[in-house]
Formats: sequence, C-alpha cells, structure tokens
Amino acid sequence: MKSARFFLLDRLQVAWLLSSLLAVTAVSAQAAAPVGSRPIYVPNTSQAKAPMQGNTLVWNTLTETTNIFDNVPAAHFLFTFTNVSSDRVSILDVQPSCGCTTAQLPPLPWTIPAGGAGKIPVTVNVAAKFGTLFKSLTVSTDKGQKVLWMRITINPAPLPKMNAADRARFDQMAKADRQAVFKGNCVTCHVQRGEGKYGEALYDADCAICHEGPDRATMVPSLHDLKVASNFDFWRMWISQGKPGTLMPAFAGADGGPLNDLQINTLARYLVQTIPSKVPPRH
Ligand code: HEC
Ligand code: HEC
Repeated sequence: MKSARFFLLDRLQVAWLLSSLLAVTAVSAQAAAPVGSRPIYVPNTSQAKAPMQGNTLVWNTLTETTNIFDNVPAAHFLFTFTNVSSDRVSILDVQPSCGCTTAQLPPLPWTIPAGGAGKIPVTVNVAAKFGTLFKSLTVSTDKGQKVLWMRITINPAPLPKMNAADRARFDQMAKADRQAVFKGNCVTCHVQRGEGKYGEALYDADCAICHEGPDRATMVPSLHDLKVASNFDFWRMWISQGKPGTLMPAFAGADGGPLNDLQINTLARYLVQTIPSKVPPRH
C-alpha cells in the first residue's frame, strides 16, 4: 500500500529515525553500555489516520463551547484526556482547522503511558470575528485519530453607561459637528465596535447604540416605526449621508464616516429584510 508507506516517511518519522540513529551511534561509541539496554521507542504511525478506538484516550469532552464578548482577542479552551488502555499511546500530530488556532503541546511525539493523563490548552484568535464559529483540532496518535471541536459564540460587549454630564457634553459636540461621533474618544463606543463587521452585527454595533438603547434621547427616532416608505436605497442614503443639521451622522467614508461600500450595502440589505416598509412597530 503506497499511501501508507509514504505516510511512514513523513517529517516526523524522518526526525525520529535520525534521532534514533544518533542515539544508537552515541551508545555504541561508549562501548561500556550494552546496546539495547535502553530501547528507543519509535511509535507505529500506520494507524495515525484511522478512527481512534473507544478505550484508548478518554477525553473530558469532544466539543467545548464558550461564549465571549467581541472586545476580547481570543477564546481559550482546555481539553484533558486519560489513557485508559493497557498500552502506551503516542500523540504524533495535532492539526488545528485554521491558522487562528494554536494548541500548546510538549515536543511530539508525546507518549502517554497506560493510565497516564494529559491536557491540551488551546487558544483561538477571534479578533474582528463575530457570530458563532466552529474550530477543530485533529489529534493523530499511533492508536488512531480523534477530532476535538470548539464552538465559540461571540456576543457584542455591553456598552459602558454614560453619565448625564458626559451625555450632555457629547450631544453638544454632536450638535456642533454631527460627525464628532467618529472622532477622538467617541470612537471607542461609536466606531471600533463595528470595525470589520457587516449586516446584523454592524447594525448592533453602529446603529443600535443610538436607535435601540433603552435610554436613548427623544430626538432619536425608532427605526421600527418609520412614517415613510423604506427600501434598499432609502436605507443606503440614510446610512451614507445621514441628515445635516441633526445628530444623525453620515457613515460613508467620503463624508469622514467609518464604513466602506460593502458594509453599507450589507447593512441596507439587513434592514430591508428585518424592517419591512410601513409596518407598525413590533412590541
Ligand atoms: C462609553 C461609550 C460612549 C462614548 C465614549 C460616546 N458615546 Fe455617544 N452614546 C453612547 C450610548 C450608549 C448612546 C445611547 C444613549 C444612551 O444609552 O445613553 C450614545 C448616544 C449618542 C448620541 C445620540 C443622542 C443621545 O444622547 O442619545 C450622540 C449624538 C452621541 N452619543 C454622541 C457622542 C459623541 C460626540 C461622543 C464623543 C465626544 C460620544 N457620543 C462618545 C455611548 C458612548
Ligand atoms: C449618534 C447617534 C446616531 C447613530 C449612531 C445613528 N443614528 Fe440614525 N438618527 C439619529 C438621529 C438623532 C436621527 C433623527 C434625525 C432627524 O432629526 O431627522 C436619526 C435618523 C435616522 C433615520 C431616519 C428615521 C426617520 O424617522 O425618518 C434613519 C433611517 C436612520 N437614522 C438610520 C440609521 C442607521 C441605519 C444607523 C447605523 C448605520 C444610524 N441611523 C446610526 C441618530 C443616530
């Protein structure tokens, strides 16, 4: 079987053969140590891609789930296992499903004696991601392969509350310049939460802050109760240009806003789908 033989010669195996060879040379150079007194264990890689049998490594879980806020850069997981078989098990390789996932491992192959246990801490970089992500780790051993899953749900971080004095001051600044929300310290709440987002996630970050808040000011209308007909172009125009002389800013890059065309289009499409034209408010 060609493919199996080829797999035998992967880099791991070559490294093992080389180090075994060096070790053997070193041992025979010291003539005193009888060759074979410390046999070098070379795990058999032929089962590395076969499914792992039940009574081999038993894991704390095969799917870990976590909920995080979108203002943290990474999600962390810990997989633990016990070797419940009567033989040693060698972990030959651990492959994450993407470059954003890293597993902290001792040097491979990692041989776990019968009854032994171990843990694999995993970090998934989630910067600029949102929604629900699935990531996996494929653990290949000399007794077969196991896939471990990670489910990450990323929710918008709750907004820090504004005090009345700040709010009055911010509104004053916005009255003088409706684009002020995209400048200076205002960006932490009014720009950064929407960076890299589209559609619904972008609405939650950039529009809901003013239009859905329980404490929203009286001059901010509800978008679920429009007095006029709305369609894709209606939404696109309002998002891009806002309304001069009011607190509704222009989000288009051309007007100093933070959004690009693709973001504006996905947002308008989301609004067309979720806020049907001329429909009474949903309570
Ligand atoms: C700490 C987060 C935060 C920062 C920083 C921030 N805002 Fe806001 N802003 C909010 C929230 C939250 C609302 C929604 C109203 C509420 O919940 O009080 C809001 C609403 C507004 C509104 C709509 C009118 C209103 O009062 O509801 C304007 C205008 C505004 N902000 C302007 C600004 C400007 C200008 C700056 C920078 C000088 C700024 N904001 C900085 C969180 C922030
Ligand atoms: C800084 C607060 C603020 C933010 C952020 C904001 N708006 Fe507004 N928006 C307003 C205010 C204030 C008005 C009322 C303007 C007026 O007086 O006519 C308004 C009006 C509107 C209107 C017109 C509603 C009507 O009754 O005719 C639409 C549509 C709208 N905004 C959509 C959006 C969308 C979509 C976003 C997100 C991209 C957004 N707004 C973000 C403050 C905001």
